[in-house]
Amino acid sequence: MKILKGNLVSAPALGKLEIVEHGCLVLHDDGSIQSVEKAVPQNADAEVIDYGDSLIMPSFVDMQLHAPQYPMLGMGMDLPLIDWLNTYTFKTEARFADLDYARRIYRRLAHDLIANGTTRVCMFSSLHTDATLVLMEELENAGVTGFVGKVNMDRNGSPELQETTEQSKRETLRWLDACGRFQTVKPILTPRFTPSCSDALMEGLGRLAEEYELPVQSHLSENDAEIEWVRALHPDCAQYWETYAKFGLWKRGTIMAHCVHSDARERAAMRSAGVWVAHSPDSNTNLYSGVAPVRKMLSEGLSVALASDVAGGAKLSMLHAAAEAIRASKLRYYYSGKRPDEAYLTVPEAFYLATSAGQQYFGAGPGFCVGDSLHAIVLDDSALPPSRPLAPAERLERLIYADDSRTIRAVISEGRRLI
Ligand code: GUN
Repeated sequence: MKILKGNLVSAPALGKLEIVEHGCLVLHDDGSIQSVEKAVPQNADAEVIDYGDSLIMPSFVDMQLHAPQYPMLGMGMDLPLIDWLNTYTFKTEARFADLDYARRIYRRLAHDLIANGTTRVCMFSSLHTDATLVLMEELENAGVTGFVGKVNMDRNGSPELQETTEQSKRETLRWLDACGRFQTVKPILTPRFTPSCSDALMEGLGRLAEEYELPVQSHLSENDAEIEWVRALHPDCAQYWETYAKFGLWKRGTIMAHCVHSDARERAAMRSAGVWVAHSPDSNTNLYSGVAPVRKMLSEGLSVALASDVAGGAKLSMLHAAAEAIRASKLRYYYSGKRPDEAYLTVPEAFYLATSAGQQYFGAGPGFCVGDSLHAIVLDDSALPPSRPLAPAERLERLIYADDSRTIRAVISEGRRLI
């Protein structure tokens, strides 16, 4: 048994903060949470790790990022989505045919995720099977858990980054067969987006999703030109989401990144199917895709969690993603004429979207939940500029806006301390 002592701050529900000042997390030997206490239990026969005045919070979940885009952070940001993909992204991803290069970049990425307090991810790899296995290995070794997808793309790529339909299906099977060796990193089917995948490939992936009971991730309604393109490719579908639904890829637990331009009908289809939204405000601003209607999604009861979308997003930090979500929602609120149904996100809400919301995708309870394996970070704000004495909620706000990874003093994943 182990006890972690500090100021416990979590968000068990949207807009709700749970704070236990100078509280304790009591852990079983396997690193799962036995209890949450206001003080160290008397006569507890346990090692106490005292983090003093630091904040102990759930670690971050990044619901969507592109591992092979890590070398191009902050590049091509003056281009809209499709030009950015064609000019920078496909060329960068093509380099992952080289396994030594993949090993070097993915080792660094896994390390940097932990340094930023992210212990759970839903991640896109590239189309390369072997590099995807390297990525899964590096994440697992570093203690990053979650889902990784070998990307499928058999059309509209580039000469150096495209598969044939048969190759794509065959390589997906080879990849799935090799995934059995991983414990905490699991496969997720990843058709890149509708313009990248022929009907025959989508159909094959839909069958695999059913046969292997696999989750699915892709992109939806991110950018105007993309939506027009999908309309031209699928004149039989009234809306973008139907191009996934047609092939059995629109189902409970499917994650759709962006959904910036999803209207009431598309959102209703998400809600009734149990499809998740990965909200990436940094990326949506960088590629000037627009501002997603997050308040409406939340009011309508959709499952939404925050994502960096690196490298559309230019930072791994989920502190940054949380602040960006608030900023973007404030601009949307302002330009809506300050309509109540567009009310901006608050700090506790953005914190919830960066932690508990995504935790639930992985089957964990919200906040610090008894019985769950501990995923937590310890934040020490003593390096920030001195201020008057602050309440834990004020300190959380300052840490989110300061977005300084030096404040992350400890990271625990699956009950194991990594930093
Ligand atoms: N749509 C298709 N591929 C991508 C990608 O790599 N990033 C983003 N943001 N959108 C996409």
